[in-house]
Amino acid sequence: MNMKKNLGNTPVITPLPVLIVATYDENGIPNAMNVAWGGQCGYHHVALNLSLNHKTTENLEQTKAFTLSIATVETLVLSDYFGLVSERKENKIENAEVHISQSEFVNAPVIDEYPLTLECKVVEMQEALGEMHVVGEVVNVLADDTVLDGQGKVNLDKLQPISYDSTSHSYRMLGKIVGEAFKDGTKIE
Ligand SMILES: Cc1cc2nc3c(=O)[nH]c(=O)nc-3n(C[C@H](O)[C@H](O)[C@H](O)COP(=O)(O)O)c2cc1C
Repeated sequence: MNMKKNLGNTPVITPLPVLIVATYDENGIPNAMNVAWGGQCGYHHVALNLSLNHKTTENLEQTKAFTLSIATVETLVLSDYFGLVSERKENKIENAEVHISQSEFVNAPVIDEYPLTLECKVVEMQEALGEMHVVGEVVNVLADDTVLDGQGKVNLDKLQPISYDSTSHSYRMLGKIVGEAFKDGTKIE
């Protein structure tokens, strides 16, 4: 048996996603931020954990809608920038020179440079544990055909999503397939 050590309360769950949450402010100015403390929390729902002081949190309270793009190897630098600077200091969309389209389904901007974007409406927003817990219902998924397979499904090898490694403060690529879910366990049955 290996020796075990108590590490206390430190975040180790992995992989964390790198999600780019885009919103409009009350004047229709688009903004984007990087969120790793979030993810799919149901078949049709996503969850975000946001600090109360972010411009995005304020925007969400006003518009009750957002888009959520998956950061990829190709969009890594852009995605990190969205997490480094607040809209309260700089107009990030202008500085990054990205292109915005209006979501067809919700009152939120779509950043054209991301190949996969979820369009969401806020269904729950609750202040708890010093943060804002947001649940969004996904009303549409918008995908570039470059990240789809022949059957129109998202192909992760083509998408190349990145993951946030909170233990080394780095971004990682998703690894290769190592097993089959709902099948490999049958070897023990
Ligand atoms: C890798 C990474 C992950 C982050 N995850 C979160 C998160 O889950 N929740 C959060 O509130 N802030 C998170 N941040 C910080 C915000 O993205 C950052 O403070 C941003 O400037 C907020 O932008 P805004 O004020 O324009 O909304 C993260 C930043 C990085 C670089």
